[in-house]
Amino acid sequence: MTQTPPLPLNATVAVIGAGTMGAGIAQVAAAAGHPVLLYDNRDGAAEAALTAMNTQLSRRVERGKITDEAKTQLLARMTPCQKLADLAQAALVIEAIVEDLAVKQSVFTSLETTCTPDTLFASNSSSLSITAIASKLNDPGRLAGMHFFNPAPVMKLCEVIAGLESRSHVIDTLLATARNWGKVAVRANNTPGFIVNRVARPYYTEAMKVYEEAGADIATLDALLKDAGQFPMGPFALTDLIGQDINLAVSQTVFASYYQDRRFEPSLVQQALVEGGLLGRKSGRGFYDYRDGAEPKYPLTITPGEPPKNMIVDGKPGLWQPLIERLSAAGITVQPGDPDKPAAMTCEGLSLKLTGGCTATTQARRSGDPNTILFDLAFDYASTDRLALSPADGSNPEAMATAAALFAEAGIQCSHLDDSPGLIVMRTVVMLCNLAADAVHKGVCSAEDADNAMKAGTNYPAGPIEWGERLGLKTVIQVLNELEEHYQDGRYRVSPWLKRRSA
Ligand code: NAI
Repeated sequence: MTQTPPLPLNATVAVIGAGTMGAGIAQVAAAAGHPVLLYDNRDGAAEAALTAMNTQLSRRVERGKITDEAKTQLLARMTPCQKLADLAQAALVIEAIVEDLAVKQSVFTSLETTCTPDTLFASNSSSLSITAIASKLNDPGRLAGMHFFNPAPVMKLCEVIAGLESRSHVIDTLLATARNWGKVAVRANNTPGFIVNRVARPYYTEAMKVYEEAGADIATLDALLKDAGQFPMGPFALTDLIGQDINLAVSQTVFASYYQDRRFEPSLVQQALVEGGLLGRKSGRGFYDYRDGAEPKYPLTITPGEPPKNMIVDGKPGLWQPLIERLSAAGITVQPGDPDKPAAMTCEGLSLKLTGGCTATTQARRSGDPNTILFDLAFDYASTDRLALSPADGSNPEAMATAAALFAEAGIQCSHLDDSPGLIVMRTVVMLCNLAADAVHKGVCSAEDADNAMKAGTNYPAGPIEWGERLGLKTVIQVLNELEEHYQDGRYRVSPWLKRRSA
């Protein structure tokens, strides 16, 4: 099979909209070597964007990131334009204007009368339907989505979105072109949120749900997802950075677009912040307080008690085997227990188990061990320095201090979560995996593209499906089923694709 080639580098790329995204996309195309036309209907906006680009590229030259010559050549390829008709000769027009369907439709219908019939059209829209944007064209097949991430010159991902009528040749050319520009390009069918904005919803909403249910404070949950989950930023700090209003609006749009599918249900805690004007860093307060003199928030850590000297390990620990090795290396005597029992560490009358999605209280009742403590998932048990623990209701009041002392011997700090099903890292990871699986199930993208999109678009430490497979898809399904049993609202129902893949 011959691969569709990218647009040749001497082909002109036009960008409409010289705001945050348009300027960034123009820079990406010019850096790759294309002549670039930049148009904005606001007087002087295209020129101002080029001046800002000059300043920003000069800083990169000073820091030795690019040569002065590369900067000069890049800027020489950029031409600001005064009217839409100036874009007539472009081989590709990428639109990055105001997020308004009627305005976008009108820009593309005007372009259809001025550009050549072969000119490819792309929209950078985050939330509008690509099918709807193309619907007013005589030839809707020439238009597709090219969804870049902010800042476009830095973020690696470009989602290429096929509308209902987009021609496959157009999609393949855009994919090849984005790759030629150094991007990780993935193909997605036109559905609300495309890949990243759909699959990432639970990263925010699961933590907000645990917080709303008083499972833990925000700084503790952020620290757990960062330290144990190896996510680049905790969800509370991240949404403060994005803007609570922006993040909530995406959640609300996605939720409404999927006809109130509970999987996408936004958080009332976040809505309250937005109502109160606590929009995050930009307003000085969000989940955190950024004002001068504000008290910083730190994660809570359990004060360790007397460390146990030995422990018994039942069953097959699998994923968390490195914990046993760390504890053994720290001088704890590890004795093998019953290999046929469910995997657990027992010491000082405590039973420590990896969360399987039910609460510690339910687990204690099922196993008959009143002093049950569940520990959370970690991305890498060999290196994690923090772990969440949840005790069963009615367990010995000293149990958490003893468990924290055990883990402290291996250099791991423990944070207390009130008895939350699936704790925090586990429930977040299984939901990300479930939503990625469901995107694959609904034909939005391939499993490989779902993983690539999430890694390149969000810098998660692993793709959600890849991570689920490391964990074992049977475990993912079991945890989701337990969460569904706990909440009974359909939010955690298992994607049919996961069931099929695990079978
Ligand atoms: P922005 O507000 O920074 O820039 C939009 C620019 O378009 C402005 O300079 C405005 O003057 C110009 N404009 C508006 N109507 C126009 C028209 N009819 N003709 C020509 N120019 C026009 O907006 P931003 O953030 O760059 O967003 C643009 C698009 O990119 C939107 O569709 C948005 O959904 C999408 N997007 C935004 C991301 C972000 O993080 N800001 C990320 C990915 C996509």
